[in-house]
Amino acid sequence: MSTFNEEYSVPINSAADIVVARQKGRALAIQLGFNGSDPTMIAAAISEVARNIVNHAKQGEIVLSGVHESLRHGIQVIARDDGPGIANIERAMQYGFSSNKGMGVGLPGAKWLMDEFDIQSQVGKGTRVSMRKWLS
Ligand SMILES: Nc1ncnc2c1ncn2[C@@H]1O[C@H](COP(=O)(O)OP(=O)(O)O)[C@@H](O)[C@H]1O
Ligand SMILES: [Mg+2]
Repeated sequence: MSTFNEEYSVPINSAADIVVARQKGRALAIQLGFNGSDPTMIAAAISEVARNIVNHAKQGEIVLSGVHESLRHGIQVIARDDGPGIANIERAMQYGFSSNKGMGVGLPGAKWLMDEFDIQSQVGKGTRVSMRKWLS
């Protein structure tokens, strides 16, 4: 069973909000005990999924929380939007694939930076990316 605390929702409507989400994520990671390069990696992953909201869905939110299980603790990042959704998730996850002349490295990069990565999307409904990183 997972419990959550220190929850923050960051509305994402513009490029400036990407910076806010990134900073809040970094601060929460440090507060939860991440150190070394971890806070930077977590902030970079948040940046990519927040940027995808701005670039591909226009608006949405990032929800940051501490996640606690009996044997481990970490950070959870959820990026959700009610945008156009993704028709082919497998293709979207490929390194270098972009539907709009982006670099196409955001989703595979975020997955690589975090320990757990889950993406759910429905065309016409929206997209939800859920990621976790655990303290070692
Ligand atoms: N929140 C989203 N809503 C709709 N489509 C998305 C979303 N996030 C990612 N995508 C789709 O997945 C593709 C790959 O994303 P990503 O790896 O971040 O590359 P990039 O953003 O550079 O295009 C995007 O080009 C887009 O088609
Ligand atoms: Mg991207």
